[in-house]
Amino acid sequence: MQMPTWLVTGGAGFIGSNFVRSARREGLARIVNLDKLTYAGHPENLEELGGDGDHVFVRGDIGDAALVDALLREHQPAAIVNFAAESHVDRSILGPAEFIQTNVVGTQVLLQCALRYWKELEPRRAQAFRVLHVSTDEVYGTLGANDAPFTEDSQYRPNSPYAASKAAADHLVRAYSQTFSLPVLTTNCSNNYGPYQHPEKLIPLMIGNGTAGRPLPVYGDGLQIRDWLYVQDHCEALCRVLERGVPGETYNIGGDCERTNLDIISSLCRLLDAAHPQSAPHARLITHVSDRPGHDRRYAIDASKIKRELGWQPRTAFGEGLARTLDWYEAHAGWVAAVAGGAHQRWIETNYGGRSPAVERGGR
Ligand code: NAD
Ligand code: DAU
Repeated sequence: MQMPTWLVTGGAGFIGSNFVRSARREGLARIVNLDKLTYAGHPENLEELGGDGDHVFVRGDIGDAALVDALLREHQPAAIVNFAAESHVDRSILGPAEFIQTNVVGTQVLLQCALRYWKELEPRRAQAFRVLHVSTDEVYGTLGANDAPFTEDSQYRPNSPYAASKAAADHLVRAYSQTFSLPVLTTNCSNNYGPYQHPEKLIPLMIGNGTAGRPLPVYGDGLQIRDWLYVQDHCEALCRVLERGVPGETYNIGGDCERTNLDIISSLCRLLDAAHPQSAPHARLITHVSDRPGHDRRYAIDASKIKRELGWQPRTAFGEGLARTLDWYEAHAGWVAAVAGGAHQRWIETNYGGRSPAVERGGR
């Protein structure tokens, strides 16, 4: 049987590049990778694929309809997997416009191109065609300590401009299913961690700062809870949804792994102590700084639907995934240096320079 082609958008970012690498490693599909290469997208993330004739990289914007139409016409994909997005909550607070442009307008353009393409496919290919939209648990807003985890039926209550833009995109995806019968699938996943995550995000930021002896900036009291999932487990879930998911359905994906931010940072400090005993204890670097405005207190995912209906399970225990992640960052200092260049240093000054060192108690 001929290998299918998938159009992957945002495949030079964190999750997208992990997805593309594993899809190519396993020979699941030929990949056309459309990425704008914003500050978050890096050709270095795709170096492993150098010389792979079945990975075609195209620098461009999901909001460029002429380009997307041309790529669909030329490569005739069996599926589109949409990772392209502005993804950092703190950046959405300091500058929301780009989030609306890519996450909302860009997604709508991509959907419209997909619709045009799908309508022209011959019936057998049209029936097998899928658009998989990769979304987040942040669309559901925040949970109290005793609330049940988010299900696919939880109400959308986004609290940050990032979450609102992803919620709007999810609604557009749903509308293209309801109105035009476009065969779409949406996944809402919890916090990912693992290799190739941009150093602006919690775990790689703490690894970089801890290794360099810099302060570890904890927003507010650090008791906010996230549900952590190793990135490779997320990629496997996405493949399962692509293969067996029912068009029009949404699937929650999570790691059954609720941890406070302070738990995460303390675990990392213990791993750093073991790796660099001369700098121990790294926990002395923990510094409480002023909180993220609108900071969601707790996320937790009920992933029973994807487990029950599609047979997916997370496979990586948190301790094992965290140790593997630290090892990866320590072994890839060149990658970190390439990704955390001048623009990243400016971001660090912008985001952390104005934060007061005071401990803020009791988030929402
Ligand atoms: P990322 O910021 O690391 O990567 C985003 C990629 O999209 C980058 O390569 C960037 O260059 C590209 N991009 C941005 N705007 C684009 C545009 N207009 N056209 C084409 N490419 C564009 O993000 P990530 O953490 O890998 O997240 C990928 C997706 O998964 C996002 O949609 C995010 O909302 C979702 N998600 C992320 C997490 C997480 O924990 N990181 C969890 C759940 C869902
Ligand atoms: O839940 C899924 C989401 O997870 C994705 O949709 C987002 O794209 C992804 O960025 C992530 O969002 P978070 O805001 O949860 O991730 P971040 O790594 O930015 O922060 C994790 C937690 O750590 C959050 O409670 C804020 C806190 N934090 C973060 C940073 C960067 C700190 O305390 N200090 C920091 O310096």
